[in-house]
Amino acid sequence: MAQRMKGRHLISLKDYSREDFETIFSVAARLKEELYIGRPHPLLAGKTLGMIFQKPSLRTMVSFQVGVQQLGGYALYLGPDQISIGKRESTEDIAHVLSSYVDGIMARTFAHSIVEDLAKYSRVPVINGLTDFNHPCQILADLFTVLERKRRLDGLKLAYVGDGNNVTHSLLYGCATVGMSIALATPEDYRPDPEVVAYARELGRKTGAKVTLTASPKEAAKGADVLYTDVWASMGQEAEKAIRAKAFKGYQINMPLLNSAHPDAIVLHCLPAHYDEEITYDVVQDPRSAVFQQAENRLHAQKAVMALLMGNG
Ligand code: CP
Ligand code: NVA
Repeated sequence: MAQRMKGRHLISLKDYSREDFETIFSVAARLKEELYIGRPHPLLAGKTLGMIFQKPSLRTMVSFQVGVQQLGGYALYLGPDQISIGKRESTEDIAHVLSSYVDGIMARTFAHSIVEDLAKYSRVPVINGLTDFNHPCQILADLFTVLERKRRLDGLKLAYVGDGNNVTHSLLYGCATVGMSIALATPEDYRPDPEVVAYARELGRKTGAKVTLTASPKEAAKGADVLYTDVWASMGQEAEKAIRAKAFKGYQINMPLLNSAHPDAIVLHCLPAHYDEEITYDVVQDPRSAVFQQAENRLHAQKAVMALLMGNG
């Protein structure tokens, strides 16, 4: 196990190198194989993960909880009613106290600054389980899935269709790091953070990843090896649902769009999906869809992250 990653936080993929990604993918592949053949891998024996959730979750919550258990450790769910970050007490105090009890903290929050503050004051690794700005664990599982399907990452092209959101930001960091080009098709008013785009462009100049922005899903999908989409309205944006439904009309992965991509293209969606909004049901069911493999890989990728950051080596 790579000792150099021990004790680190995972707040943003911006902080992780290509070598770090490769280490995570190789540990994830090993742990997946061991799980499949039934070989125990108690790399977190006796360790505890505190899981803070300000938002709902299926994949993140269950994959972290089950993942820790499979690694021989224990996970603790701390929902909004339990600790009410910033309301019942400060993030700083929560970080001091919680990190004196547990060996790692996973947090899903609204403001990204909460996860940054947890990391600042915690004495144990903090893992970002989604904020309004980022979703790094998702993109590690996504790239691991592409690697499984395509046997490589660099030189490929990913087309993202929809909202320039937290998933998009982590995709920009992740793709640029591994040398995968990324074409984003978003409505003008829903482009990702320009600073993230500029950072990914700069990094991409070194790794060979091209970053392009367009308003046309068709243009983005042309020649793409991977098509990716996410919900039009993220958690916390429920009040904007109607406005967004109008703005995103046409920003959908459907059969015609999939057929216009590379003939071997695969489809990804972080889920939950809203059928007939950002994606159609037939696309998710198509053999070119890797959506459920991708969801399963959340488990294997996060187990690798936890083993590397929190494990005993
Ligand atoms: N993709 C994802 O993070 O799913 P959940 O919101 O269900 O955790
Ligand atoms: N962008 C979505 C991702 C869900 C996993 C959200 O933040 O709700």
